[in-house]
Formats: sequence, structure tokens, C-alpha cells
Amino acid sequence: MNITIVGTGYVGLVTGSTLAELGNSVYCVDIDEQKVEAMQNGKIPIYEPNLEEMFARNIQAQRLFFTTDLKEALDKSEVIYLALPTPPGEDGSADLSYVLGVAEKIGMLMTGYKVIVNKSTVPVGTAENVRQVIASKTTIPFDVVSNPEFLREGFAVEDSMNPSRVVVGCSSARAREIMSAIYQPFTNTGIPIIFMDEKSSELTKYASNSFLAVKITFMNEIANYCEKVGADVDKVRLGMGSDDRIGHRFLFPGIGYGGSCFPKDVKALIRSGKGENFDFQLLQATEVVNINQKTILVPEIENYFGGNLQGRRIAVWGLAFKANTDDIREASSLDNIRALLNKGAEIVAYDAIAEDNVRRLLGDQIEYAADMYSALDGADCLLIITEWPEFKNPNFKLMASRLNNKAIFDGRNMYAVETLEQNGFFYKSIGRRT
Ligand code: UGA
Repeated sequence: MNITIVGTGYVGLVTGSTLAELGNSVYCVDIDEQKVEAMQNGKIPIYEPNLEEMFARNIQAQRLFFTTDLKEALDKSEVIYLALPTPPGEDGSADLSYVLGVAEKIGMLMTGYKVIVNKSTVPVGTAENVRQVIASKTTIPFDVVSNPEFLREGFAVEDSMNPSRVVVGCSSARAREIMSAIYQPFTNTGIPIIFMDEKSSELTKYASNSFLAVKITFMNEIANYCEKVGADVDKVRLGMGSDDRIGHRFLFPGIGYGGSCFPKDVKALIRSGKGENFDFQLLQATEVVNINQKTILVPEIENYFGGNLQGRRIAVWGLAFKANTDDIREASSLDNIRALLNKGAEIVAYDAIAEDNVRRLLGDQIEYAADMYSALDGADCLLIITEWPEFKNPNFKLMASRLNNKAIFDGRNMYAVETLEQNGFFYKSIGRRT
């Protein structure tokens, strides 16, 4: 099948590469000429493990093409995926101007039946909105389908080639047949495709992300309470997760959830609720708890240094909002760095992948170390923000010799408390004894 993808951001690129990998001819459209030219030469504009190989393989096989010409791409395909940004507006609601702007152009340019598939995370009712905008520009028949994306950054290739489910919101038999054909390689291997109406599909995306954000936040509160009563959150987590109604995943406490999805989607769902006079009380509480959680280690660091951080040099390991990505959107690293700088501390940070993005934002307000150990030279303590694999089994003796104080504040519970005690460290993690 010929498929057009409008928008070559994160979701568009992964969706395009995946659909090409499944054997379709995929035409990716973006307004950014430089980006399109780079992609035509096989250069991928984002960091995502294993994506470049899949991308290059499909360009080579002539199944993946790039253009700035929407008309040309529209004429080639019956199915048009929209993978456009929906950034939060000032009030937290999703800004639909990109989605609706492209819908309008499609309405003006289309010359035959099209299925418009919305992959972006959009508020309930957007499919209907898109339908109205297109219908205001054409009398040619078309269908609008909602097909939310559930992939995780860092595991995008794995998640997109082996999704837990495919959700399709679609009320037309013609479009349903086309969507079933596109995803047949998945359904053939037993991956469920769940058809529903467009509104339910749109809400499924927000409900899934919000549920996971609540799950993490719940564990963060349990972890904080563990510290009060002397329980160990690792044990509680294992005990709870063994109930398969709860499950082991997304029960890891830490310094709050971040990234481009959970914070945005929780906010947007709260906002949409307000529009309907509906109060998402649980989600509002989740937001507040998460904001506090992000800097929960700052007062601990301050206490360790007798209430004064002036002139203290603090090493930070990890800047990305989670491992395996260069993304720093809503990353706890930024909240921590800003809070510590405000208290007069100096920061020396190390993150091989996300450093460039932080440099663009913070410039020389902080120092950047070339490797994880040199970050510790002359530092008064270490703060761990991201659970990068390279931090998992460090040389504790070397760390001790390079730090001024053997003190680690760990926002990701990377190490066994006993190991750190044996190595003579002061070790503060989340929800475990100090
Ligand atoms: C999330 C969802 O997991 C995807 O299913 C969804 O498709 C995506 O948003 C999206 O809407 O596009 P992502 O933002 O890439 O994916 O990251 P996650 O792996 O879900 O992590 C989100 C945040 O939660 C990170 O800050 C992570 O460190 C934190 N987290 C995750 C925890 O603190 N504890 C956990 O147990 C799991």
C-alpha cells in the first residue's frame, strides 16, 4: 500500500519507518526543507536506538521517501497519517493549530477518496473537528480515523514493531477495511487490533498515559511514606507487583515522571475535563505530587551540608528525562539544577547523549564533564538523575577517591543500600533506609 505521513517528528519518523518495514511505500512530508534533505540522505534527526538501521534499510529498499510537497505525497496515497505536534497551550490544553492547518490543506488539495489517520495525541472530539475542517473545503468523500501511538522513547523500534495493541477509532466500514489491511502483519502474529469509535480511541491514549503517571506517582508517595515508617520500597514494590492485577512494571519510584508525554497529557486531560465542567481530582493531585517529587532530594542535599549550599560543587549524573534518550523535556535534571543553582551551588554534569540539548538551554551556567568519573573531581557530592546503564556498576573505590565527600543522592535507586554502606558512602535514595 502507498501511505503518506505528514510530520516527521518523533512519531512520524517511527511510524513511517515501521510502515515501510511492513512492506508499504511511505511518503513522509515535512515543511522543513533542510530536514527533508538530510533525511533523503539517510540522516535521522532524532536519537533513538535501532531506528537509524531500520530507517536506512527502508530508504535503501526504496520504500521510504521524503518530500516537502504535500500535494505530491497526497496524490500518491489513499491513506494519510497525521503525526503533527500538539504542544500544550498556556492553559495546558493541546494546541491543534498544526493538525487543523494540515487538515485544511488536505481538504483543498485532495483529488480522490482518502483516509486521514490521526496519530498525534489529541483531545476527544478532534477527529470530528478534522472531519469538519476537511468537509468545509471539499465534496470528495473521505474518512477520519483515530489511531493513537503507544510507543516509548528509547524503545520506539521495539514498541512499534511489536505493539501491545493497535487501537483504531473508526466509524466507517471502508476505512476499517483499509486499517485492517495495514495492520494485518501485526494481527497475523496475534497482536490485538481494537476497533472503537473515534472519541473512545482518542480518550484511550490520554487515559493510558494518565493511568501510568498515576501509577508512578502512587509509588512515589508510597516510597516517601516508606522513609517515614522505616519500610523498604523495593520490598513493597516486589510484594505488590507480584499480584498480576497490579504488575511489576511502572512501579519504580524515583524523582518524578518527565518527558514530552506524561506531563503534557495529564495536564491536557485535566484541562479538557474543565471544559466539560468535570474535575479530574486524582490527576490534579498527581500533578502536584509529581512536581514536588522532582526536587525531593534538594532539601536532603541541603541538610547534609548543614543547610547551606553556597559554593558547594555538586556532580550530576544524567540529564535526560530517562535513559536511552537525548530528550530533556520536563526532565527532573532541569528542576534540580535550577533549584541547586538558586541555592548558590555549582553544578558539573555528565550525560553523553543529552548534554548538547542541556547546553543549548543552560549554556555555561553549569559545567559539563567528559566522563562520569571526571564529573566527580573536586565535587562535594553526587546526585544521580538518569538511570543510564553506564552508571549501573561503577567503580565505587574510584568514585570515593575522586569525590570530596563520600555522599551520593540517588534519584533512581541504582544501587543496593548495603553495597554503598560497605563502601563507606552516605547514600540517600528514594523510599529506602539511609
Ligand atoms: C510514554 C508512554 O510510556 C508510552 O506508552 C506513550 O506512547 C508515550 O509516553 C507517548 O505518549 O508518546 P515515554 O514518555 O517515552 O512514554 O516514557 P516512559 O518510559 O513511559 O517514562 C515516562 C517517565 O516516567 C520517565 O520520566 C520515567 O523515568 C518515569 N518512570 C517510568 C518512573 O519514574 N518510574 C517507572 O516505573 C517508569
